Amino acid sequence: MGRPLPWLPVLLVLLPAAAFADEQCPMNVSRPAPENAYLVDDVLWAGEPKKAYPAAAYRSVQGGGYVLCTCETGACVRKCCPQNWAYVEGKCSELNASLDVKFEVPEFVNENGTVSTYETGHFHIVYGKPKCADKYRIMPSLRKTDSFRITKTGWLLQDESGATIARPDEFCLDSFSTENFQKLPVVCSREFMEN
Ligand SMILES: *[C@@H]1O[C@H](CO)[C@@H](O)[C@H](O)[C@H]1NC(C)=O
Ligand SMILES: *[C@@H]1O[C@H](CO)[C@@H](O)[C@H](O)[C@H]1NC(C)=O
Ligand SMILES: *[C@@H]1O[C@H](CO)[C@@H](O)[C@H](O)[C@H]1NC(C)=O
Repeated sequence: MGRPLPWLPVLLVLLPAAAFADEQCPMNVSRPAPENAYLVDDVLWAGEPKKAYPAAAYRSVQGGGYVLCTCETGACVRKCCPQNWAYVEGKCSELNASLDVKFEVPEFVNENGTVSTYETGHFHIVYGKPKCADKYRIMPSLRKTDSFRITKTGWLLQDESGATIARPDEFCLDSFSTENFQKLPVVCSREFMEN
C-alpha cells in the first residue's frame, strides 16, 4: 500500500472532534466555570466564596478554562416538549395562552392523581426527549402499579418497590391534554438500551 498520505487530513479532522465529545457533560448541559477556577489534585476550586467541584462535576475546555456540568452540580429533569408546549393527541403542540398550564415536576403520583410536586426551581429543566429507540408512557390512573416517585436528584422510581424505572437521562416529563394536563413520564425502554 503506497498511498498513506490521503488519510492524514481525515485523522486530523476526527481527533479533535472525538476529544471534544469526551468533554460533554451529562445531558449535555454545562456553564462556564468562574474565571478564577484552579485545580488541586483533580478538584476544581472556583467561585466567590470558593467551592470545591469533584472531577465528575467539571470538564476542561480546549484552549483553556473549565465548564461546570449543570446536571452534576444540581439536579436535572427533562421536559419532553418545548417550553409552553405539551402533548395534545399524542404530539407535542403549542399550548393556548388561555390554558395557563404550568410545568411542575411531580414528586409522587398514584392512581388518584398527583399527590405532591416540587417547588419551581428545584430542578434545572432540560428540554427535549431522550434519544432511544423505543419509549413508553407511565399511567398510574390506568395501572396502579405505575404509581411513581421522582427523587430530589431526578431519578424515576416505582413507588411500591422503590425500584429504579429510569435514570435522569432516560425519561422526560410533560403534560398530557388527555389526562387533564397531568405531568407524566415518557420512559426509554431498557430492553432497547441494553442491547
Ligand atoms: C450530547 O452530545 C453528544 C456529543 O456531541 C451527542 O452525541 C449526543 O447525542 C448528545 N446527547 C443529547 C441527548 O443531545
Ligand atoms: C387552542 O385553541 C384553538 C381554538 O380555540 C383550538 O382549536 C385548539 O385545539 C387549542 N389548542 C390546545 C392545545 O388546546
Ligand atoms: C385512591 O382513592 C380511593 C377512593 O377515595 C381510596 O380508597 C384509595 O385508598 C386511594 N388510593 C391511594 C393510593 O391513596
